[in-house]
Amino acid sequence: MKLYHNAASPFVRKVHLLVIESGQEDSVELVASGGSPMDSSNMPVAENPLGKIPALERTDGPALYDSRVICQYLDALAGGGFYPEARKWEAMVLEATADGIMDAAVLMVYEGRCRPEEMVYDAWVEAQWDKVSRALDAIEARWLSHLHGPMDMGHLATAAALGYLDFRHEARDWRAGRPSLAAWFGTFSERDSFQRSAPS
Ligand code: BEZ
Repeated sequence: MKLYHNAASPFVRKVHLLVIESGQEDSVELVASGGSPMDSSNMPVAENPLGKIPALERTDGPALYDSRVICQYLDALAGGGFYPEARKWEAMVLEATADGIMDAAVLMVYEGRCRPEEMVYDAWVEAQWDKVSRALDAIEARWLSHLHGPMDMGHLATAAALGYLDFRHEARDWRAGRPSLAAWFGTFSERDSFQRSAPS
């Protein structure tokens, strides 16, 4: 299989974390991709008409997208450990929360990258950060016992989201006021999968 990949994308990193943690590296080749909403020239548009990564080219059917679909597919191939039946809804809601953090954090980056400077709308950027902030507060308040339990897709998605905040929004200091989440992430970020999936 081919995973259209760019290490800067937190959605790609989430999938890459699953590939490594579920022992599927030998069957998933990473294919370098890039671009932005304004330039899909190096994006897998034949595999994903939306021109977005990650996309997964399979040997036994059409390509898959988006990241949640790919993760469920790879998890099924690996035997189902990352959406465990007993905690499936919790894992999926935590993944959705982390994906929402990624969505808002990426939109903040695109606002600065894709728009002419005089058209950047600061209030809109701050509204995206408000979403990130609320979601982080919810994870700190509600999800720490889950995060300290057996690893599932919620863990991988949360780690990918927090890694992206450090990568693109370090000055926002997401750790302030969230000591438990910061401590959990400190431990998670020592994992081999996290180190090897990092953007350079
Ligand atoms: C980034 O450079 O921040 C980025 C790249 C690809 C997808 C999403 C974000």
